[in-house]
Amino acid sequence: MPQELFRSAHHACLMFSDLGNEGGEAVQANQFLIVDGDVGAIIDPGGNLAYSELYLGMTRHFPPSKLSAILASHADPDIIASLDRWMTATPDAKLYVSTLWERFVPHFCKPGKTTGRIVGIPDPGMRIPVGRHELIALPAHFMHAEGNFQFYDPVSRILFSGDLGVSMQTGPDATKPISSLATLPRGMEAFHRRYMVSNKILRCWARMVRELRIDMIAPQHGAPLVGEAVPQFIQWAENLACGIDLMGEAHYQVPA
Ligand SMILES: [Fe+2]
Ligand SMILES: [Fe+2]
Repeated sequence: MPQELFRSAHHACLMFSDLGNEGGEAVQANQFLIVDGDVGAIIDPGGNLAYSELYLGMTRHFPPSKLSAILASHADPDIIASLDRWMTATPDAKLYVSTLWERFVPHFCKPGKTTGRIVGIPDPGMRIPVGRHELIALPAHFMHAEGNFQFYDPVSRILFSGDLGVSMQTGPDATKPISSLATLPRGMEAFHRRYMVSNKILRCWARMVRELRIDMIAPQHGAPLVGEAVPQFIQWAENLACGIDLMGEAHYQVPA
């Protein structure tokens, strides 16, 4: 069952956190469904492991023809490897992905499946209509992919942050929102130190998101951050040395 992150009369945000990882081999991942009236969008639908249940979950809210947007924060397999099946099952949905990846993601599909159906998000970002409202694609380049976006929903005030704000948890634990970062959740520090590219990028991001009212940061792996954990995370990320800040000649040696 998906978890309801937000609901009003006209608008809902649902999180699926436990789809298709019976063997435990694949990293836990969250997929998000935005419902606005009788239409909707999915954010980072994932790979083939998550497809069937996410598709079924969607059809409880609206028919496949009413899916207007598939939003991909970047082009990793856990983000969008199921693209072929979504293109087949939903006749009118457009895929929104960075212009850097729009000619790469068709490799996930059979020939011709994506023709006329990919909208490249330019580097500065854009506003994406979903029903009566808009989602805002915010630049998140190098967090961690070269062409990377986060999606902010002004109605729920949720920031869907892709691979930023991630922790390493099981599906059931990922449903329990984190309200304080006094103790960092499992895997958060190690993940960001290796997967985020540089502190300069995190500082640019922190400045940008402080302009927004954010009630929740919902990452693609692990539990959402709420309450005090939101400003705590922004401050923590802003001060984190990561990626190329930590890499030097010692990390680039020919293996013996
Ligand atoms: Fe990723
Ligand atoms: Fe990911």
